[in-house]
Amino acid sequence: MLEKLLLPEKHAIAMLIKDHDRVKDLFGRFEKSDSAEEKEKIIAEALNELKIHAVIEEEIFYPAVRKEVGLDLMNEADEEHHVARVLIAELDRGGRRNDHRHAKFTVLAESVRHHIKEEEGEMLPRAKGLSIDFDALGQEMLARKKELKRNGIPEDAEHAMVAALKGRGDSPAARAHRAARGARSTTRKQAALTAKRTPSARRNGRSRRGRARRRTNNTTRS
Ligand SMILES: [Fe+2]
Ligand SMILES: [Fe+2]
Repeated sequence: MLEKLLLPEKHAIAMLIKDHDRVKDLFGRFEKSDSAEEKEKIIAEALNELKIHAVIEEEIFYPAVRKEVGLDLMNEADEEHHVARVLIAELDRGGRRNDHRHAKFTVLAESVRHHIKEEEGEMLPRAKGLSIDFDALGQEMLARKKELKRNGIPEDAEHAMVAALKGRGDSPAARAHRAARGARSTTRKQAALTAKRTPSARRNGRSRRGRARRRTNNTTRS
């Protein structure tokens, strides 16, 4: 494990660890909060932090250490970023009324915590021993971070993929829930239609019987 406190503030690895601590703190606050409003604010803040962190790792830090740290570890990290990005894209797309929203964010938090554990437990200790100018790398990361905050974060392939699916690629549980909600709504509509039809059907029945009686009376009189 890394001795976090021994690294200078501008060191690239110290910057990554600081980001990790910030998102872990947001995950903890989300779990403790009982307020839907506060949870929503935390989700927005965490998604923004994670997107920026992923960009600086993917564009700057990962390429700088990939070869020496080893492809197996780096490829696994890439795949973990991809999975996190899919969940982030779904959370960005999904409205606040989606009842799977908090569950999805919890899964994202669990997945990111696991990823951070692997980065801090394996990748970063291996990277720390390399002959890289980590202060210069840190400066580059900081400059990119400022640029992303100023100009916005470019849309990734996962956002495009989720957008193209128009919600059809959502989790099986969410799909099942939507189907159940659709079935309940159809049942309610049918019940409402039946309720509407019943009085008029009765009225129609009465008027039919009335017409029949009138016809019978007329026949009897003539
Ligand atoms: Fe990281
Ligand atoms: Fe990462």
